Amino acid sequence: MKKIAVLTSGGDAPGMNAAIRAVVRGALAQGWQVFGVRNGYAGLLSDEFQPLAARDVGGIIQSGGTVLGSARCPEFAEPAGRARALANLANRTIEALVVVGGNGSQSGSASLARAGFPVVGVPSTIDNDLYGNDVSIGCDTAINITLEAIDRLRTTASSHHRAFAVETMGRNCGYIALMAGIAGGAEVIALPEHELLPAAVAERLLAARQRGKTHALAVIAEGAKCGVHELMEYYGAHRKSIGFDLRVTRLGHVVRGGIPSAADRVLATRLGAAAVETLAKQHGVLVGMVKGDIVTTPLADVAGRMRPADSKLLDLARVLAM
Ligand code: F6P
Repeated sequence: MKKIAVLTSGGDAPGMNAAIRAVVRGALAQGWQVFGVRNGYAGLLSDEFQPLAARDVGGIIQSGGTVLGSARCPEFAEPAGRARALANLANRTIEALVVVGGNGSQSGSASLARAGFPVVGVPSTIDNDLYGNDVSIGCDTAINITLEAIDRLRTTASSHHRAFAVETMGRNCGYIALMAGIAGGAEVIALPEHELLPAAVAERLLAARQRGKTHALAVIAEGAKCGVHELMEYYGAHRKSIGFDLRVTRLGHVVRGGIPSAADRVLATRLGAAAVETLAKQHGVLVGMVKGDIVTTPLADVAGRMRPADSKLLDLARVLAM
């Protein structure tokens, strides 16, 4: 029998539980034993493992967050931390590890692979910034939460003839802002991949008002240099010449919570199951979905790399916001 472990790491993402369920049940179907590691890499260091059976992952596919817990663990980036983690895995005779997480987490799994430990990564982050994968687990739900906020804000923006700026998460990647902005018909979208100065954002919002719109909405990615604070400051200084009010909403961690969408549950199920199938023949890779197909990419190529949002779509958004 093969003995494997699974952990969820970094910022939690809706759909992580569906991935855990797929890994556990997929591995049990192969006749393997599965252990869950508590709180990501922190649990590898503190030796917190729990055996997982089929019933232990029942009723979790519909819950957000992660039943295993997650953490950011700077200690694991140090050689001493990694050595402790490897010693704990060896003591428990765990033969392989599945790491469900985003960019930082997969850099961690790449370091385990470099040390010779069999590991497979599953891309899960609302940011959708992983190289070797089109859309990561959790991103669809985060886009939909952002979109719901945009739709709600548009109602009040129209009633009051105001402009609104909504900031959504995504760290250095503008994917959530771009997709939610397009789906929400935003007048302006500001991304780290395509920076706009506060003056340009204000000018576009004003132009929308002059075209007869009752509202004007800007979606700002967390990583954009023109953040909501900069925008507010600019508005404060130029309120008279701009001629209308601006309100801002920072969605923050709200974007990461809640029930995973059907798309995230299906993606997580497919990628979790594929991680187990991959482990049977290969390791040291990220299992991703590219153009609808499951593909593997060496973790060494994924680590430290970023997949930017496709800012070409901004042109489309701008034309259609006429
Ligand atoms: O990586 C996911 C993410 O939610 C980013 O979008 C955000 O920048 C970051 O995590 C926030 O991290 P924390 O939860 O540690 O504050």
